[in-house]
Amino acid sequence: MNFAQRRQDLLEKLPAGSVALIHSGEEQIRNRDVEYPFRADSDFIYLTGFTEPDSVLVLVRTEVLADTDYEQPHHQAWLFCRPKDPEQETWQGKRLGVEDAPAQLNIDQAWSIDDLDEIAPQFLTHAKQVYFSFGHLAEWSGRMADWLSELKTQVRKGVTVPTSLNDLDTVLHEQRLFKSPQEIEVMRQAAQISVAGHLAAMRATRPGAYEYQIQSAIEHEFRLAGSPRVAFNTIAAAGENACILHYTENQTQLQDGDLILLDAGAEWQGYAGDISHTYPINGRFSEPQKHLYNLVLKAQQAAINAVQPGQPYNLMHQASAEVITIGLIELEILHGELDELLEKEAFKRFFMHGTGHWLGLDVHDVGRYKINGEWRSFEPGMVVTVEPGLYIPKGLKDIETQWQGIGIRIEDDVLVTENGHEILTQGALRLPRTVEEIEQWMQTNRI
Ligand code: GLY
Ligand code: MN
Ligand code: MN
Repeated sequence: MNFAQRRQDLLEKLPAGSVALIHSGEEQIRNRDVEYPFRADSDFIYLTGFTEPDSVLVLVRTEVLADTDYEQPHHQAWLFCRPKDPEQETWQGKRLGVEDAPAQLNIDQAWSIDDLDEIAPQFLTHAKQVYFSFGHLAEWSGRMADWLSELKTQVRKGVTVPTSLNDLDTVLHEQRLFKSPQEIEVMRQAAQISVAGHLAAMRATRPGAYEYQIQSAIEHEFRLAGSPRVAFNTIAAAGENACILHYTENQTQLQDGDLILLDAGAEWQGYAGDISHTYPINGRFSEPQKHLYNLVLKAQQAAINAVQPGQPYNLMHQASAEVITIGLIELEILHGELDELLEKEAFKRFFMHGTGHWLGLDVHDVGRYKINGEWRSFEPGMVVTVEPGLYIPKGLKDIETQWQGIGIRIEDDVLVTENGHEILTQGALRLPRTVEEIEQWMQTNRI
């Protein structure tokens, strides 16, 4: 990845005289001296490739020199990071350190993070605008107030103080939304590892197993492939549990005759895979399960077809909602006229989430969905998930019992290309997705 180019591209979008600060984040204590696993902030990873906690990247867009339109050619990238400390490193692991950071990370200069409060006012006095993430306003505001107050006390000595604080998210997240060819290649790999995990889960599925065992099969495969962690908490939801959208307890025993819904993705080089797959625990769909599954699959295909450059983002949701509504009328689960039911969004009772989201370093990746109140259009380089679902819990008095206790979601990761799209989760490795493919696969491959 060309991190220096990313920093350069970002700085070109900021006005002259800007300083941007990006924090990697801090370790969070779980209890006493035990920390939660640390994962650096995605903005910070995107701009540095560096993953240690307690680091701050400072980007400086140089001022246009007075009376000329000549700009100093070289913007500055500085890093404040943890200094080398043999004793700490014996306990907690190696640190890159201040001395090696410039060469390793291709930045201009590095200091100890312990010096940030002393040095920050010195570079802020040369800035007109300061940029940082308003998503992390609470973390920055106290510090920023101290630095600016200190500068304010020195104005009689001729010191100048920045006059505006700005949200970096708007600029940086728009940049992150468009994936470079290298990012796309890494996302293909994240998708492939995620597919491998889902295949391992299918192999381990049988009546009597527990949801956590299926979770373990999938995550084992991710880790075998070198993925350091899941991209989000794995959902392994058998039977009616699939109707709980963010179910992560994963404790229930798998029953013969039920479906299982798995929503899981590997993180690979920082990037997320995100796949949902639903299939019968005993390898064979019942008739009602088959009807509902085919409907969701048809909705997903309609939605994927809508992912084309130039098409508005919300078209994929409209496409899947329409297919789902038509199907629910045919199955006599919804009653009424199509137009009226669509107008009332009657499908929301059984399909209550959107059809997808941006995907990248974060599973629910950054980037705006609307611009000036209008849904934006797909453009090449964007990656989106396509994941319609149907969820019919037990106990609904007005719904036939044959449909109850069934939750289905089918999710793939789709790249917008110049001419259409590429389904990243359907590379060399792919999941069986039709009823016939799934039943055949389960017969042949199950442990
Ligand atoms: N796995 C989270 C989602 O699909 O949005
Ligand atoms: Mn998703
Ligand atoms: Mn998902």
